[in-house]
Amino acid sequence: MAEYPKELKLKDGTVLTARLLEPQDTEALYEFFMKIPRYDMLMYKDDVSTRESIESWFTSPSYNKLVQLVCLKDSEIVAKGTLHNEGLYWSNAAEIKLLVHPDYRGLGLGSQMFHLLLNEGISKDFRKIIVRYVMGNPSFSKILSHYGFEPETVLNSYIKDEKEGVTKDLIIASYNLENWDRRFEFYYTMFSK
Ligand SMILES: CC(C)(COP(=O)(O)OP(=O)(O)OC[C@H]1O[C@@H](n2cnc3c(N)ncnc32)[C@H](O)[C@@H]1OP(=O)(O)O)[C@@H](O)C(=O)NCCC(=O)NCCS
Repeated sequence: MAEYPKELKLKDGTVLTARLLEPQDTEALYEFFMKIPRYDMLMYKDDVSTRESIESWFTSPSYNKLVQLVCLKDSEIVAKGTLHNEGLYWSNAAEIKLLVHPDYRGLGLGSQMFHLLLNEGISKDFRKIIVRYVMGNPSFSKILSHYGFEPETVLNSYIKDEKEGVTKDLIIASYNLENWDRRFEFYYTMFSK
């Protein structure tokens, strides 16, 4: 695991601190979720914004995600990112989830958090890292394309936005290290002739 805390500098010069989530972050995490538009939380299967779910899913030591990062401006959480493994039997796979406070978007924070989480995944030797997101998310699509993530599946009308009464498509994109290894092998054989 990388060394934390880490300083992150945004495009407007703001300096933030990224560190691992701690059990005492429940209240700050609750405040953070309160500021996230409901639409942006559709990628979670459940309502994660209540104090009870924060305590049982995120800050409880028994709910062991692989890496949970938060990014802070002073004592306020302004981003949260998780690298979550897929269980004992799918030990080659992990998922990244990322949320940035709306006031801090477009400043490079999402990209830097994603970079940290992806590096965590690669350093832990996951062969397959996936992300799930709702169709029509230009900034996240940009982050993914920089890293070579490819959409692998589109689940049409998979998500129901209860409030708006409409369904949305869910995209699953992945970064497949097996393919990268093959690509590197290909280039190696090409250029070593
Ligand atoms: C997706 C999300 C994490 C991006 O965070 P962010 O801090 O705005 O990301 P960045 O500022 O690093 O921007 C990433 C890229 O998108 C571009 N971008 C930012 N806002 C954009 C917009 N509204 N439209 C198009 N592109 C945009 C940036 O210029 C950057 O591209 P570049 O690297 O080529 O310069 C954030 O919008 C978010 O939390 N969304 C809700 C949750 C979510 O969808 N999470 C992803 C699924 S798990």
